[in-house]
Amino acid sequence: MNKQVMIVSGPTLEPIDPIRYLSNRSSGKTGYCLAREARKRGYRKIFFISGPTPFIPEGIETVMVETAAQMQEAAERRFASSDIILMAAAVCDFRVKTFNPRKIKHKEETLILELEPNPDILQGLGQRKRADQILVGFAAETDSGEANAREKMLRKNLDMIVLNEISPLNPAFGADENQVTLIRRTGAIHMEKCSKEQIASAVWNEIESMASLPAKSDP
Ligand code: CTP
Repeated sequence: MNKQVMIVSGPTLEPIDPIRYLSNRSSGKTGYCLAREARKRGYRKIFFISGPTPFIPEGIETVMVETAAQMQEAAERRFASSDIILMAAAVCDFRVKTFNPRKIKHKEETLILELEPNPDILQGLGQRKRADQILVGFAAETDSGEANAREKMLRKNLDMIVLNEISPLNPAFGADENQVTLIRRTGAIHMEKCSKEQIASAVWNEIESMASLPAKSDP
């Protein structure tokens, strides 16, 4: 398959001081499954960008990053040459305003960290998206999932968004299974809870139906 695929995966890590950081519960399994499924389907040009996680697919060109700023730089550099872009990373929305070069001691009774917003990587990519590119995002929601995800899909100029409805029954982050809804501008597919491998396959089926590519995995 001659299409160039870019998959962005895992959490970001935002340093506070040389010892501590802010991050989130993303394991990177979804991005990992998406990359393996792409390879299984015959895509030979896959570029994988990942925050800190052990889930790195073998034999795929990979760039490891830590912060949202580094992730943004790596993704923007390869965006124009990518045909299909999947943004499965859980980007920290905030970073500390001033990195403390020395360890913060615990003498104080309270510690106030001043945070500033990170860039929205996906929104930036959506603004530059060409008609011949397919851009897929993910949404983690605890309330009004479908409405919020649909709003994000339009605001970020995506072709599809994969909604994770996070609840005690569906923690999603770190789990091997997830319950998702695949939302396109034309409609939505509600999936039963299933493995992240099965979700990756369903996501690729949808992408291939948009791109008029063969929709079946290689046997
Ligand atoms: N995303 C991104 N950069 C950010 C935040 C999110 O690129 N700073 C991307 C995620 O990779 C995901 C999509 O945007 O594909 C939606 O992420 P999500 O965390 O669900 O939503 P937010 O846009 O951060 O909005 P909110 O936190 O208000 O729900």
